[in-house]
Amino acid sequence: MSETGNSAGRDGAKRIVYFEKFADPVTGTILARDPSINVQRLELSNSDAENWQAFSGAHGYQIRAARDELPVHFFANSEFLARCPNMLVVSSMGAGFDTVDLDACSAAGVIVVNQAGGNAEAVAEHALGLMLALSKRVGETDQFMRAQDGIARNTYMGRNIQGKTLGIIGLGHIGRRMAELCGSLFGMRVLAYDPYLEDSDFVERGAISASFEDVLANADFVTVHCPRTAETINLLDARAFGLMKPGAIFVNTARGGIHDEAALFAALQSGHLSAAGLDVWAVEPPPRDHPLLSLSNVLASPHTAGVTHESRHQVASYAGEQLLDIFAGRRPPRLLNPEIWPVFQERYRALFGD
Ligand code: NAI
Repeated sequence: MSETGNSAGRDGAKRIVYFEKFADPVTGTILARDPSINVQRLELSNSDAENWQAFSGAHGYQIRAARDELPVHFFANSEFLARCPNMLVVSSMGAGFDTVDLDACSAAGVIVVNQAGGNAEAVAEHALGLMLALSKRVGETDQFMRAQDGIARNTYMGRNIQGKTLGIIGLGHIGRRMAELCGSLFGMRVLAYDPYLEDSDFVERGAISASFEDVLANADFVTVHCPRTAETINLLDARAFGLMKPGAIFVNTARGGIHDEAALFAALQSGHLSAAGLDVWAVEPPPRDHPLLSLSNVLASPHTAGVTHESRHQVASYAGEQLLDIFAGRRPPRLLNPEIWPVFQERYRALFGD
């Protein structure tokens, strides 16, 4: 079927497309509740012509959140949107949305939603797990025991995290859960940098508001929980690592590219930082000979922080419910470009009426 121009299609259906699979099949189960919604599964192995035909008639796009799982020409940017005249909403499968150019969507009158909160528990537990494992040097002793006989117990003396200072970059769903866990379980002092929050938000979220530089200079642990945006790419560079306390531990479970990998390597190799826990990489998966993977004080995971049974089900449920709301003309709870809502309403009415 070919659909071009601004149209709801001859059958009046609201068309949502996605590649290969949802985060969990529950998204499809939820969307099936509305018979006016037509969900079309696309294959990356299809010809581009076939996929572009589906996109040209689509009203919604449930997009993958990880950059390395989607060819760049299917990222939601201005070139892509120029080929999708009917698109009303781009919905990220996860909390991250770095496959989406928010400004380009806004310029095209397309709303963007994510599923922030649905995987917050999973990621916060993962980040805390990395902090604990690095403080106890579990990764290093595990590697040592597998490679050699005998171990002098004092060689790998660890540290407690109780009473230490935690620095959080990005105090959203995941950052605030980290503040809650670390503050309540371990009595940690929690500093946070988040330029988009009011003072009262920091108080309510259990953190002390601080500048980026003060967080770095005072924290024993720095943990990153902001999105990857033009503003946050290379936010943690050589200068930032230089500002961190000697012996501090760095954790990033947010996105690759927010820290400069070469600068982190240098800070770890010189001994300025004592360890790093990394779930995210500039290129995913990172090659086995990645310099950071050669360091025994780096604990690595392959972007699995949010990948738990519980969180996959939760984000997929959020996605389904949110798309049901949107295609019933109701304002969704996790709207990333709220200023576009009136434009969306107008475009929605033009396509589907009131
Ligand atoms: P959220 O949207 O609830 O919170 C993000 C926070 O970052 C907001 O409070 C925002 O104001 C703040 N922020 C934005 N720009 C900033 C900047 N320049 N500096 C400091 N703070 C800034 O999102 P949530 O759920 O807490 O997730 C955070 C990030 O974690 C996501 O964007 C995603 O990239 C990543 N993530 C990674 C997963 C994994 O499997 N490793 C899974 C889920 C999320």
